[in-house]
Amino acid sequence: MTDDPRLEGRAVKRITYPAGVIAARVKELGESITAAYPDGDLLVLGLLKGSFIFLSDLVRQIHRPLQVDFLVAASYGDAMVSSGNVRLVYDPETTLEGKHILLCEDIVDSGRTLNKLVGLLQARNPRSLEICALLHKHIATELTHPTKFVGFDAPEEFLVGYGLDHAENFRHLPYIASLQ
Ligand code: IMP
Ligand code: MG
Repeated sequence: MTDDPRLEGRAVKRITYPAGVIAARVKELGESITAAYPDGDLLVLGLLKGSFIFLSDLVRQIHRPLQVDFLVAASYGDAMVSSGNVRLVYDPETTLEGKHILLCEDIVDSGRTLNKLVGLLQARNPRSLEICALLHKHIATELTHPTKFVGFDAPEEFLVGYGLDHAENFRHLPYIASLQ
């Protein structure tokens, strides 16, 4: 469909979310988040690697003091399907106790990754813990914690770009596309 040289000849089925559409929605999310936290320490935790572009755009749209840190979770098994076997391979240096924690995820699919992480983070006594996902496939039947902030209700297709990968490729696309 597109002759974007970043695609290495791979065809994308369609551009699901163009860059301008993403930017407008991220701005709105930032406004909602700003309004939702009138006081207290806010720690925005990005789940790597998928959230790296989303997080960097999002924090610049949050107009209040905040801190940023990251989590790296590894799940064993297949790359396209989450196994639910999640462990932390990088743990934030900062203390979570007494802070508002906003966990930022690129996409919620089965919800297994989030379920595991929410349990781990809740054990550290944050003041609050909420999830912000750029994309939500709404097929997560096992989600134990509601996703308070959602960018887009995503179609049930495999999406790449704006941080999302397929076998580590295509993270650098400025738009989100579904693969052929
Ligand atoms: P879950 O544990 O099934 O919710 O899977 C969430 C993780 O799987 C995300 O953080 C992504 O890394 C990956 N993932 C799920 N769906 C997609 C997709 O459509 N494109 C790229 N990565 C995906
Ligand atoms: Mg991935």
